[in-house]
Amino acid sequence: MKGIVLSIFLIAASIVAINASPQKSSPTASSRTSTANGPDWWKHAVFYEIYPRSFADSNGDGVGDLNGITSKLDYLQDLGVDAIWITPCFPSPQVDFGYDVSDYENIDPMYGTLADFDNLASEAKKRNIRIILDFVVNHTSDQHPWFLDSKSSRSSGHRDWYIWRDGKGPGQPPNNWVSGFGGSAWKFDPTTNQYYYHYFYAQQPDLNWRNPAVKDAMFDVTRFWYQRGVSGFRLDAVDTLFEDPNLTDNPIVRPGKNAFGDPIEKNQYNTKLPEVHDVLRGLRKIADEYDAVLIGETWTADVAELNQYYGEGNNEVQLPMDFLFTMVNKLSPAEFRKQIAEINSASGWPTFVISNHDIVRSYDRYGDGKHNDQIAKLMAALYLTLRGTPIMYYGEEIGMKTTPPTRKEEVQDPIGRTGWPKEKGRDGERTPMQWNASASAGFTTGKPWLPVPPTYKTHNVELESKDPDSVLEFYKRVLRLRHTNQALLYGSYTPTNEDNPKVLSYLRLYKDEGVVVALNMTQTPQKLSLKLKPHGFTSARKLLSTGSSAAHRSELSLPPYGIFIGELGK
Ligand code: GLC
Repeated sequence: MKGIVLSIFLIAASIVAINASPQKSSPTASSRTSTANGPDWWKHAVFYEIYPRSFADSNGDGVGDLNGITSKLDYLQDLGVDAIWITPCFPSPQVDFGYDVSDYENIDPMYGTLADFDNLASEAKKRNIRIILDFVVNHTSDQHPWFLDSKSSRSSGHRDWYIWRDGKGPGQPPNNWVSGFGGSAWKFDPTTNQYYYHYFYAQQPDLNWRNPAVKDAMFDVTRFWYQRGVSGFRLDAVDTLFEDPNLTDNPIVRPGKNAFGDPIEKNQYNTKLPEVHDVLRGLRKIADEYDAVLIGETWTADVAELNQYYGEGNNEVQLPMDFLFTMVNKLSPAEFRKQIAEINSASGWPTFVISNHDIVRSYDRYGDGKHNDQIAKLMAALYLTLRGTPIMYYGEEIGMKTTPPTRKEEVQDPIGRTGWPKEKGRDGERTPMQWNASASAGFTTGKPWLPVPPTYKTHNVELESKDPDSVLEFYKRVLRLRHTNQALLYGSYTPTNEDNPKVLSYLRLYKDEGVVVALNMTQTPQKLSLKLKPHGFTSARKLLSTGSSAAHRSELSLPPYGIFIGELGK
């Protein structure tokens, strides 16, 4: 451990802070993984989402691939990642970039082969990194053999694997449901003169989960991958698995149109039906046989709704993502406090994300344009020290920014074309990973499938690895702390100074150990008197901080967007 470890001494229940240069070291495999083993391994693991098209391209075709991921495993291990979630890499026409699967038990040639997958899995295992795959449960591709058979005739063996209905009349779909990606959720198919239902694109027909054969086939898919060494699944779009069999029209919530020009509906009859939970319980049962984890893409209105995904007695999804946390879209201690308190009152283990492949990156959501790197560190210090499992998104650790297309002709994501200019699609948060300052940011030797953002010159892995003040080095330090500090691993979450509108602070308490985290969410220096005495502590020794938290009697001094993480002492 390099650097000077300085301390904060508490004088009469208040603090004197002395700044220190940050500690520099990266986790060793043993310190990191000892906590991410055992049946509850997922509680102490750090997950990292990889969008395979954009991570690393090994063959120069401009699209990332599995061998590219394998080549970056050392980087991920050094960063402090315990598990990677790879978004769909199965054969697919790529209409929704893999979320339209045409074969659940293979690898798309664009990404490699099953042998490449096995190699990735075994190399990852050597580094104690687990693999999580993305299971697209609601729909298949319209090119999946099941659907091709289903649409071929009304009496085909797979007809009832999808949702087919007669229209209300000539040219009229069965009801008013609109697709989440624009237009009616029904598509007429002239071969059999019926409509099929698709919550997403027309090329993504919904499976009929009321058919036991569908359930059996999909459950078997998970066994196939568990037996190949996968440690769990991220379950895609679970809300949308079931629809009201009577096809009741959805209520229109207000007049006007959405970004796609469709009526604004409440998805009352085609999302969040209770039957979803039977499926989740079934998937969990199988997962338990393999000590595997289920992560849910669970968009919920409140924590009560999120609780339903944990299931009674925690028999459904272990890690339903708390997207409510991502909706605190400003640096507001009060709002974060409220949301963190709520998720800590949930019936299961909290799961935090701040970015993913569907939403604007956190760098832009919280950045003020001037202190973006410091704010990126602040957000890392927040969600990586909370009680719960974090799921990082590739590039977040180097401060990648969202770079949306500027012209409609450049757009790759179909919803960006349908919704332009109101909805520009999700290309902006899916740009190539920035590895170095060479052409195409070291992502590919070919033409990248999405343009590399201009920030690759200042924000890339190579450069940041050499800069002790970089966002990347900060992530490594926080991750090392979270893997080695008992209070951060196992401690309760206890808010402090709850009336402070500018600094978010909390304790993590475990047995007789404790850690304090204080985050200045403003662009002006802040002072804080921590109230530790009621918790049996009198001092806080710096573990990690940023900026010059100067010494001041009785107070912790935090520079603009400053971070202080300290170990509590008696
Ligand atoms: C999920 C995915 C998103 C995809 C959609 C349809 O929301 O995260 O990327 O487009 O499901 O599969």
